[in-house]
Amino acid sequence: MKSLRSIATIAIATLGLFCAGASYAAPDATRLGSSTPLAAMHKDKKVTCKGCHEEKNQEKIVVDDNETVVNATCVECHGTLAEMAKEKKEHLTPHQSHLGLMNCTSCHSGHSQSKTYCNNCHTFDMPIPGGTAAIKRVKPVPADSRPVEKTDIIVIGAGAAGFTAAITAHDGGAKVILLEKQPITGGNSALSAGGMNATETAFQKKKGIKDSVDVMIQDTMKGGGNHNNPELVRILATQSASSVDWLTSIGADISDIGQMAGATNYRTHRPTGGAAVGAHITKVLKKNAADRKIDVRVNSKVLKLVEDGKGKVIGVVVEGKHSGTYTILAKAVVMAAGGFSANQTLVGQYQPQFVGMTTSNQPGATGDGMLIGEQGGGQLIDMKEIQIHPTVAAGSRILITEAVRGNGAILINRNGKRFVNELTTRDKASQAVLAQPGGSAFLVFDSVIHKSLKQIDGYFELGLVKEGATLAELAQAMGAPADTLAQSLDTYNKAFEAKKDAEFGRADLPRAIRTPKFYAIEIKPGIHYTMGGLQINAETQVIGKHGQPIPGFYAAGEVTGGVHGKNRLGGNSISETITFGRIAGANALKAVKNSK
Ligand code: SIN
Repeated sequence: MKSLRSIATIAIATLGLFCAGASYAAPDATRLGSSTPLAAMHKDKKVTCKGCHEEKNQEKIVVDDNETVVNATCVECHGTLAEMAKEKKEHLTPHQSHLGLMNCTSCHSGHSQSKTYCNNCHTFDMPIPGGTAAIKRVKPVPADSRPVEKTDIIVIGAGAAGFTAAITAHDGGAKVILLEKQPITGGNSALSAGGMNATETAFQKKKGIKDSVDVMIQDTMKGGGNHNNPELVRILATQSASSVDWLTSIGADISDIGQMAGATNYRTHRPTGGAAVGAHITKVLKKNAADRKIDVRVNSKVLKLVEDGKGKVIGVVVEGKHSGTYTILAKAVVMAAGGFSANQTLVGQYQPQFVGMTTSNQPGATGDGMLIGEQGGGQLIDMKEIQIHPTVAAGSRILITEAVRGNGAILINRNGKRFVNELTTRDKASQAVLAQPGGSAFLVFDSVIHKSLKQIDGYFELGLVKEGATLAELAQAMGAPADTLAQSLDTYNKAFEAKKDAEFGRADLPRAIRTPKFYAIEIKPGIHYTMGGLQINAETQVIGKHGQPIPGFYAAGEVTGGVHGKNRLGGNSISETITFGRIAGANALKAVKNSK
């Protein structure tokens, strides 16, 4: 890694070369305020605008929406994220996160207040260099004065569905642009914990797990209150094994298998040791897109679809953070922009009682894709079907994966009592938690369950876990009566021995809870998933308000409605993104080929 000392070298190279353009004055620490934004801090080290920015001509400094040159310069001086993480002695460093590789400028800014991106979901008290500043931006070029770009396929949203569609279409020979409005790629998929449901897979066979397409269909339909589109559910189940094979073929490890709520059999595929699926597959998808040199643009928000006057979608209007508004024309557009759990206004429009509830989602999950699709003629369905996940760590946005319950944890209220079948569907489990004193409960487990699932380590790191060397100590940490807690665990352990949960009818009792230490995480329900969205058919074509597919317009993932009915089963989301992302990519590709 180049040390900070090497800034001096750059400083010598750039000494005196202050920005030439009238629009960019040299940062001035006094003008920029007392909080010393990064530009001013760099100026103190004799690094000027040109030290960070590319100068394209004498008039102005042009920064692309990916902020490529600025970020390359950060790395040149400070080292890579991995190198910086290694230098940090504390156990938690924002330079090493489950979000993987990202731009330095996702958090750090020269001209406005720097913000820790992680604090969108966590509440870390991490001081970050930088402050506020008022520095003039280069005015964006008006849309009509710049050349219209052309490509084969535009994919909107760089989560798992978007990456999958983009890679599939690229591999079939299409030129693809993948647009992401957030400063980082990955979307909610990067946060996904539990796993990917799939049936009749080679991994299941190897472990002797008996499962079938029909049982996965039955579970999914039952979980969704039979409100799901059966044709889409059949596709989800039938193609799930080949989606696992596809992910494996591009470098993913999803060979471990667990169970999630509402599933009859073990079919939730995840990385070895039970690590979180989302961070892993996002890393794999990003790498595959990068290896193929797919044009991925962050900070690029789609404002609307372009239509040819006869109802065919032929492009998009984009607003780049730096490049301003511009148009891209394409032969097909795939919408994969996710759901709206992080949009309190939209949530309130459909389910007013959920307003004010925490969400497990990343801040970009605001439903723009659905609204843009609707403006483009698409039909929205099931928008009222909003899923509450029963176990979000109390007072936070951190999802405690259902896999913790799948691996044996139980739910205990603050009176020390068990109150529900922990593996019932999310809607029922959430209602049960909300009905407990204080509207919260504790996930209780022991050291054997802890060791069975890698993801639990992260909850310790984040300080979310209470512990006791004995049950009495744990009860004290929870503020629950020790005798009732001991009684509840005794009853549960006897049910485990008898392989029958007479109290709540939990079918899968994988482990007893009796090996110290004992642990508890306080949880509350939070908004997790929006089942509704753009209506699609089996080819992932978006259905218009007139009931017919809209030519040139495809959609996949959480932005669509129909697969999950009234309630999604855990593990079916990543499964949907990969299977329908592949279908959308393949069909968009066909549209390109047919247009030639
Ligand atoms: C979880 O791990 O509990 C969430 C995964 C999902 O929603 O599919």
